[in-house]
Amino acid sequence: MLSRCSLGACHVLMLVLRLSAAEDFDWTKNDHGSFYYGTFPTGFSWGAGSSAYQTEGAWDKDGKGMSIWDVFTHRKGKVYHNETGDSSCEGYYKVKDDIALMRELKLNHYRFSISWPRIMPTGIKSDHVNEKGLRYYDDLITLLLENKITPIVTLYHWDLPQLLQEKYGGWQNISMVNYFNDYANLCFERFGNRVKYWITFNNPWSVAVEGYETGEHAPGLRIKGSGAYRAAHHIIKAHAKVWHSYDNQWRNKQKGLVGISLAGEWGEPVDITNQKDIEAAERYVQFYLGWFATPIFNGDYPQVMKDYIGKKSAQQGLGSSRLPTFSSQEKSYIKGTSDFLGVGHFTTRYITQKNFPAGRTPSYFTDRDLAELVDPRWPDPGSEWLYSVPWGFRRLLNFVKTQYGNPMIYVTENGVSEKMMCTELCDDWRIEYLKDYVNEMLKAIKDGVNVKGYTAWSLLDKFEWDEGFSERFGLFYIDFRNKNKPRYPKASVQYYKRIISSNGFPNQREVENWRRKATETCSSSNQLLAADPLTSHMEMVTEIVVPTVCTLCILLSAVFLMFLLRRRN
Ligand code: NOJ
Repeated sequence: MLSRCSLGACHVLMLVLRLSAAEDFDWTKNDHGSFYYGTFPTGFSWGAGSSAYQTEGAWDKDGKGMSIWDVFTHRKGKVYHNETGDSSCEGYYKVKDDIALMRELKLNHYRFSISWPRIMPTGIKSDHVNEKGLRYYDDLITLLLENKITPIVTLYHWDLPQLLQEKYGGWQNISMVNYFNDYANLCFERFGNRVKYWITFNNPWSVAVEGYETGEHAPGLRIKGSGAYRAAHHIIKAHAKVWHSYDNQWRNKQKGLVGISLAGEWGEPVDITNQKDIEAAERYVQFYLGWFATPIFNGDYPQVMKDYIGKKSAQQGLGSSRLPTFSSQEKSYIKGTSDFLGVGHFTTRYITQKNFPAGRTPSYFTDRDLAELVDPRWPDPGSEWLYSVPWGFRRLLNFVKTQYGNPMIYVTENGVSEKMMCTELCDDWRIEYLKDYVNEMLKAIKDGVNVKGYTAWSLLDKFEWDEGFSERFGLFYIDFRNKNKPRYPKASVQYYKRIISSNGFPNQREVENWRRKATETCSSSNQLLAADPLTSHMEMVTEIVVPTVCTLCILLSAVFLMFLLRRRN
């Protein structure tokens, strides 16, 4: 059970204790009930995001190779209702339409990812480079720039070429470092004259833990207690290598930035008077964001990870820690390899200390000696794991500031989902989430956190990994039953648009008006959507019924003609 003490005034006291290192973030004034009216610094960049496998579709078109997600989703029982990203939003064919949506929002940037097997079908440069795939991204980038939308490009949003998995074991194998570096260099060579923001990896936590520990994600392996640590180790090295490649070969000419995008959910101690809970909450964040950020910004894994995994490994009778180590040369090579930090943040957990005996089956989760809890009062409109806790965002951003030397931050993902069956375009819960999370980010900027941009996740409803299409994160609704995948604006489009055009929240009266206007317009979109079955019906008439009837008519006329001719003879 959650301690009542975990809310309200007690938080303030506990946070004073915990983050006494933060100089200018005054936790005593951190009343998370109040709304802050004000604007963002000039030049703040507003965007929305997507990723290749989740939106492109065209999984086997124009010479694309297979990725681990193509293979994983085609296996039965891996994804909700056995759905796949084979066609998804058909984003591959709808670049112009989607750019029109971005223009409607007046976005400053668009974050998307390149599918490695689309441009290198086997993942290996010397095997084959797919010009058609390159052309797709080339056109997308050019069109974005023509529309004054800055591309922020992720190189790896989880779709590893299948061959690299089959042949080498994917991220379990150190050889990925060089293959990934070759791929990244090809992208710099072809697109670097126009792309100035590069993200090497998106959310490597998920790649490591869900891909190699729990097996919920591709490649679906369950190498408990070591698979995730090994994958992460190679990913960190691959990231550093790509940063150095850019720094040595391309930066002078292209003048861009290379960063990484990390998932960071916030962990808040359940009992603020309990030192053990305070430490457990810190451990939660260190095992999450700190696992990747600490080597990249400070040169090695968080001490607490080394201690806990080392201790458990010894208790399990292992000769060495399951957490791999970096040599001192590697540490200095990795340290300082991110020009900015991408932060993907969605939710918060309460954390309490919980001892797990070492046991025989090791696991990333039990290594942490903690339990995660939620407050049942937190709103959770969509995904099971996603509770709306805006104040956690401000805490996390301040944590990044103090731990990693106030780096330049781009929020690369933030948003909320709704359940599949919900065809409601009047998404007031998303408006609420957006408004409060963006406001906490504004407060963090006032605290001195160096946030330069915000990316709403996501532009469109799309394939949500093992959840298939059952969770919708989009600002735009997609009717997946219709093969044309039409896009409809949800009310949050109107709301986000106003945040963007005002560069923040000007005053209470105006901000309240936004909500009213947004919900007014969405009812007409709802009507359009309701008429959609009719539209698809019409399509069926034109695409199936009409040609069939015509063919039948031609056949009948031919038979009739033959009959007439015979009678004449
Ligand atoms: C993080 C992932 O990067 C993204 O692809 C996904 O859609 C969101 N989490 C929501 O689950």
